[in-house]
Amino acid sequence: MSNLSQKRIILGVTGGIAAYKAAEVCSALVKLGACVHVVMTEHATRFVGPVTFRALTSQAVITGLWEEPQEHRITHVSLPESADLVLVAPATANIIGKLAAGIADDMLSTMLLATTAPVLIAPAMNCNMWANNQVQENVNRLKSLGYTFIEPEEGRLACGEEGAGRLASPETIVHAVEASLFPLNDFEGTTVLITAGPTEEAIDPVRFITNRSSGKMGYAIARAAKERGAKVILISGPVSLPAPPGVELVSVRSAAEMLSAVQCRLPQAQVVIGAAAVADYTLKNPGKNKIKKTGGNLTLELAPTADIMAEAGETKGDKLLVGFAAETENLIENAQKKLKKKHLDIIVANDVSKPGIGFGADYNQVSIIDNTGAEPLPRMPKAEVAHAILDRIKKLLGGKAKRRC
Ligand SMILES: Cc1cc2nc3c(=O)[nH]c(=O)nc-3n(C[C@H](O)[C@H](O)[C@H](O)COP(=O)(O)O)c2cc1C
Repeated sequence: MSNLSQKRIILGVTGGIAAYKAAEVCSALVKLGACVHVVMTEHATRFVGPVTFRALTSQAVITGLWEEPQEHRITHVSLPESADLVLVAPATANIIGKLAAGIADDMLSTMLLATTAPVLIAPAMNCNMWANNQVQENVNRLKSLGYTFIEPEEGRLACGEEGAGRLASPETIVHAVEASLFPLNDFEGTTVLITAGPTEEAIDPVRFITNRSSGKMGYAIARAAKERGAKVILISGPVSLPAPPGVELVSVRSAAEMLSAVQCRLPQAQVVIGAAAVADYTLKNPGKNKIKKTGGNLTLELAPTADIMAEAGETKGDKLLVGFAAETENLIENAQKKLKKKHLDIIVANDVSKPGIGFGADYNQVSIIDNTGAEPLPRMPKAEVAHAILDRIKKLLGGKAKRRC
């Protein structure tokens, strides 16, 4: 637990049922010594009264654009200028949409545009709202602009439905604040090469064979490694995710393209993480022209592709190699076989037959396996899985985690 005594934090509270939980977050930050200024949207005040936050922070609570507490010159500019961090918890779909569009029509949205401090966003909303494409597009846009999201949790929501959208726990939010203010820098000086996403194997110029990988796990590792100071090379198959800010993105389509991109950059990397779902087979003779529909059967002849991680394992030197094993049966046993066969140091095994984890999902439940044994992790957001994998890598590299102060 860190000492936040020198830190000035703006806590933005927006109009959702979870607004009352912001009081707990606020109280925890104050207990850690932070000077917390609460800015509430008008709708937030319908859910919880400003007096609660005033009592918790001993500071005036700002609820409107035209309020000018005497201690701040021009509040919407001077307060965010002096902040070390802005946290929006809970963040409604509305504030996320406004920020993504650059709209500033109340005090909080105006401050969010005026601040140069890191901004953490902890969304909370109904699961259908959270899954809505428009909301997800806004979230992805903000992520690509460098905003950090504290992913909502899954479970029973206030509306009675089950799903993702519940505000992250106060402990998780406070931990994210500490991590942002005092970032881990334990991968500084390390180049991490990560493969992510599916590959596409052409059948003809307009058709291809692919798989259900969304790239979310690999991209989460890339983001986490970058946050922890690594130089990150992300070699990605076709996905609809924004590249985390600051990483070198190499976009490829086929397994062969991914292999050559990896081989080309392998000498630069100390750590190689193969999170891509690379096709095992490719077309032996893809059609040069679009294959015509004849009405009869069509037989495609497939040839095996190169195993990128196994090839990297053959010439690994002192590199640390991490592979993934997506299995539907005998998870640990199959993963351990792959670990040995491919000369990997770590293998992250997940059971892709379980609904709600693995391919396409925001959550994953994995076991991290190395020569010392298997560590099963609980189901958690992919961002947290990413940090757990990096923690294990760091342990094997022998370094101590240190926070940048
Ligand atoms: C009872 C009730 C609960 C609501 N809960 C949420 C919520 O949890 N998340 C959300 O994004 N919007 C929720 N809304 C809708 C927001 O209050 C609404 O979109 C509002 O415009 C948000 O304004 P603000 O972002 O300025 O606070 C809720 C509305 C009502 C009436």
